[in-house]
Amino acid sequence: MTAFYKLVDFMIKGDERGSLIAIEQGYNAPFEIKRVYYIFDTKKGVERGFHAHKNLKQIAIAVKGSCTFVLDNGKKREELTLNTPTKGLLIEGLIWREMKDFSSDCVLVVLASEHYDECDYIREYDKFLEALHNDNSW
Ligand code: TYD
Repeated sequence: MTAFYKLVDFMIKGDERGSLIAIEQGYNAPFEIKRVYYIFDTKKGVERGFHAHKNLKQIAIAVKGSCTFVLDNGKKREELTLNTPTKGLLIEGLIWREMKDFSSDCVLVVLASEHYDECDYIREYDKFLEALHNDNSW
């Protein structure tokens, strides 16, 4: 699987009452959504993540507040701040991710393509580099 991440824009169905965003599999979510989880009430200074996934596809959305993702493809590290419900961070393939700088009101919703499976996690950076190497070396 090609590894990549990108920000995606969600269309707002706004009217005089306010805003609404719909995320639908096959339209603005390019995978079957099997799981939804959310991270909230994150304590000050906490950093989470520090892993990559072998197969999982995810879209992360800061539906409230903000947080920063550190994204690493083995060659380049980049920081992306999520601070609006109108944008999602789509991550597919072997990307190392860390999350930090959560605002106290941050609610980070994650849509995932698979059920929770600890076997899909790579939690050591060295193993991540090794997996990248094996992925590219055929
Ligand atoms: P963890 O992987 O440490 O979260 P993060 O990626 O933010 O660092 O997950 C925290 C706990 O929650 C851990 O015991 C596994 C559990 N968990 C589930 O049971 N289901 C899930 O979908 C997720 C993401 C985590």
